[in-house]
Amino acid sequence: MTDIDYQDPKFHLLSRGRINADLIDGLFPIERSEWGNYRHFQEWPMHVLRLHRVISDACNRLIKGFERILDGSESGSEYLIANSGMAQLGLDLVAHVHHHHNYEDVNVLPGFMARFPQLTNAIDLLEKDHVFLNDTLYQSEVVFAQLRRKGAGKMQIDKALEQAKILSRILTLHTEDEEDVLIPAVLDAYS
Ligand SMILES: [Fe+2]
Ligand SMILES: [Fe+2]
Repeated sequence: MTDIDYQDPKFHLLSRGRINADLIDGLFPIERSEWGNYRHFQEWPMHVLRLHRVISDACNRLIKGFERILDGSESGSEYLIANSGMAQLGLDLVAHVHHHHNYEDVNVLPGFMARFPQLTNAIDLLEKDHVFLNDTLYQSEVVFAQLRRKGAGKMQIDKALEQAKILSRILTLHTEDEEDVLIPAVLDAYS
């Protein structure tokens, strides 16, 4: 644990923009554009980038799907099937991200904390993101599940679209920050 006050707007995922530079600047100064030049980039770093890509692709599919339903191109039974399919996609995304974060909390972040103590504050922030994201994922689960209720209509889809956009924005921010904290350290240590 550190003394990072997560409620401070410069740290909180909803307000921070990107990770506060003070937490990582100068520790492992390898620009994202240089990552591919490192021998071990194709191993764990590429694996993490792919896992995060799966999450962002699912967010994009979810947003586009809700927008398509709201466009009104589906009607009658097609509308019901599309709605139910999107509910499933949203719930699958929530379950997948929970699983990804649990794995990181147990297997990845503690290992990095032990190996790279200079990243303690940055990793503490990532862990606090996971706690905050837990709440957002729970809210998303409730909103997506409502699409399956009898009589669910435009109001529920509007709400689901809004929730998917919030989820997409903060998950993108968290995963990119996570990559910027963890990947340069690995490239530096094992090159
Ligand atoms: Fe994470
Ligand atoms: Fe991650």
